[in-house]
Amino acid sequence: MSSILRIALQKSGRLSEDSYQLFKECGIRFDYGTGKLKSVSSNFPAEFLFLRDDDIPGYVEDGVADLGIVGENVAVESTHRIETVHRLGFSKCRLSLAIPRATEWHGIQDLAGKSIATSYPRILGNYLHEQNVSAEIHEISGSVEIAPGIGLAEAICDIVSSGSTLLSNGLKEVEVIFRSEAILIARPTLEDEKQNLLEKLLFRIKAVQAAKN
Ligand code: PRP
Ligand code: ZN
Ligand code: MG
Repeated sequence: MSSILRIALQKSGRLSEDSYQLFKECGIRFDYGTGKLKSVSSNFPAEFLFLRDDDIPGYVEDGVADLGIVGENVAVESTHRIETVHRLGFSKCRLSLAIPRATEWHGIQDLAGKSIATSYPRILGNYLHEQNVSAEIHEISGSVEIAPGIGLAEAICDIVSSGSTLLSNGLKEVEVIFRSEAILIARPTLEDEKQNLLEKLLFRIKAVQAAKN
């Protein structure tokens, strides 16, 4: 039986376009953007699955996908057993603390006893612990930037890329706690045939990256 690599990509979001572009530059063709959640490549033994980025580490651990492209932020926050195979260098962003624009900021101690809304409770929790700050972490899965405006939290900790989401919600970035880029993840042990395919894929990815530097 000939094997095929199943690769999970973000369906729509910050990583999507760059992820598709990477495979295109690797000469691996497949359809996307048609609303289909799955697509088989016409010229490489790979099948692509289009999923929510936050779900990708779990699918990779469970073996539903062999590989995935996610932001490091998602991989580090996740408790799933996955391995970083390669850093991809695109979709760079930062995980930052932000507060309402009019609020004064003197430093991280300002957050003591306050509540912070985030989708990254683990990364934030570790950071606060390191900084010796005790604050309440309020976990929400999306639209975190709205939290201060509706009285749900006094600060937020979320992904910042261009900064436009913060700006349009009246928030200012006060502390960067983690810097992230897209990474290729895999199950810790792949079957031999899949491992061979992964090496072929990596060879192409590295060639594409080398051509850019
Ligand atoms: C992040 C974050 C903001 C947005 C910030 O979402 O949650 O919504 O990007 O980007 P900006 O600074 O360019 O405005 P992400 O792409 O991680 O998607 P998700 O939260 O839906 O997973
Ligand atoms: Zn996400
Ligand atoms: Mg978001």
